[in-house]
Amino acid sequence: MANRKPLIAGNWKMYKTGPQAAEVASRLKSLVGDIMDVEVMVAPPFTALGTVAGILKGSVIRIGGQDLFWEAEGAYTGEISAPMLKGAGCTHVIIGHSERRQYFGETNATVNRKIRAALLGGLIPVLCIGESEAERDSGQTFSVVQKQLEEGLEGFSSDDVQKMTIAYEPVWAIGTGKTATTDQAQEVHEFIRGQMETAYGNSVAKAVRILYGGSVKPENIGELMAMPDIDGALVGGASLDADSFAGIVRYR
Ligand code: PGA
Repeated sequence: MANRKPLIAGNWKMYKTGPQAAEVASRLKSLVGDIMDVEVMVAPPFTALGTVAGILKGSVIRIGGQDLFWEAEGAYTGEISAPMLKGAGCTHVIIGHSERRQYFGETNATVNRKIRAALLGGLIPVLCIGESEAERDSGQTFSVVQKQLEEGLEGFSSDDVQKMTIAYEPVWAIGTGKTATTDQAQEVHEFIRGQMETAYGNSVAKAVRILYGGSVKPENIGELMAMPDIDGALVGGASLDADSFAGIVRYR
């Protein structure tokens, strides 16, 4: 896996009130708060960011937003900006998650603006891409992923792209219990890295981490991580419980 340090990220989605988030964060801190060979990140809902940041202070666990708006501030009721996330203790931000694309009108063009805002605000964008079941069944997996990359990353330099993390999440595997086989995942990860190499050169392609997401559990993380182009995981359901998430973080 070249020199890429694995990243295991937990996306809590629209789960957990402040007290519930605090409980998971405390337990997580005691279980993996000092782990050195894997990077760990959790993305709580916005309302719990401050609480979780306070609890995880002094641990190696990083914090991410689940989304952001592309302006730094302004009259945009309900939105959250990069400086706000940064101020709340975030180092990362998830952008273009399939649920945002599916339910909230996120497009490759808005993803592109959000990535720019994240970089400008000093946050590491975690760009999510992936095909739907219908797209896979009709043989469009590679073309969909290629378009998401090209349009999402349009206008960025190699230097910018080097700072990002990509998450390949086949939509049909998210929250369904249907994980992609290791071969299906590896095939797309290799394709993504190839696209990176063509567009940004060999050293960027080698440096960029590509996470797999979609029904990752303690039981399947080991075989996924054994694949050469899988550099970590973006975990939804199994990240809501500290013990199961810690089991994924300690996959070795
Ligand atoms: P899941 O979600 O692990 O529950 O499938 C993954 C994700 O949406 O990031």
